[in-house]
Amino acid sequence: MKLGANLSFAIKRWLGGDRLAKVVKEDLGLDHAQFTWDLVDPWWPSAERDRIARDYAAGFKAASVTIESNFGGLASYTYNHFLAPTPELRALGKEHFKRAIDMTAAMEVPTAGMPFGPYSADDALDPRRREDIYREALEALVDLSRHARKSGLTSLMIEPVPLATEFPSSAADSLKLMKDLDGATDIPVRLMVDWGHALFTPLFKEDADMDLWMRICGDYIGAFHIQQTDGLLDRHWNFTRDGIVTPEILADFWKRHKLTDQTYLLEIIYPFEETDDFVLEDMKKAVRLLRQAA
Ligand SMILES: [Fe+2]
Ligand SMILES: [Fe+2]
Repeated sequence: MKLGANLSFAIKRWLGGDRLAKVVKEDLGLDHAQFTWDLVDPWWPSAERDRIARDYAAGFKAASVTIESNFGGLASYTYNHFLAPTPELRALGKEHFKRAIDMTAAMEVPTAGMPFGPYSADDALDPRRREDIYREALEALVDLSRHARKSGLTSLMIEPVPLATEFPSSAADSLKLMKDLDGATDIPVRLMVDWGHALFTPLFKEDADMDLWMRICGDYIGAFHIQQTDGLLDRHWNFTRDGIVTPEILADFWKRHKLTDQTYLLEIIYPFEETDDFVLEDMKKAVRLLRQAA
């Protein structure tokens, strides 16, 4: 299986292109990575932002690690963005993704993605509001696809999340979004499917099943976030912990579905209190377990 790491494990710890590329390449032995906006904030003034982002791109290039995509992280995930309750907030959400696309272009990375965002508590309960805001979000994404193509990107990605108050959450929602965008965008929009989101049983019940996701929207899945979870919350644990996702299950899924390039990106989020030594050793152990199972 094609293994890579979302760089969220490294935030606050290993900074700068050379230093972080060394961790990914030499310590973890990985050739693929997904950059996170928790390392460089798309809202930073563009000159400094792009200089720092390019330093990451150069460090990874020199170490022969491919940054496949740029993705929203914890900070980005806290805002309502495209599905916010007011036009002003939605416009800021669109601007956030636009800036992230600009940063992605500066790094010469081909793909940028994020979740769409949450509805407010009130909007989430109002089908008409949901639909109106959703339509506007589709238009914003079509617009951004134009900007992304002009900037040199080749695809965008949206990550479904395990909340009924957001969109998309289920596999059926995700397929709807893909169909609604099909043919309308200047570059393809694909799904970043997170195992820990898809297997969230309180929301999806018996549909918390990765094979079901493949049946319903497998054609649109660009890559996967992998993480260990108990299925009860979105844990982002590593595979050194017990849970419902084992390296064997991941390897079996990869083989059965004859996957070739939809990278398994480890998306591990550690408590900030965890020591740097622990995080590095734990990441190394997890990569070893995944390699053994592959
Ligand atoms: Fe994820
Ligand atoms: Fe998550």
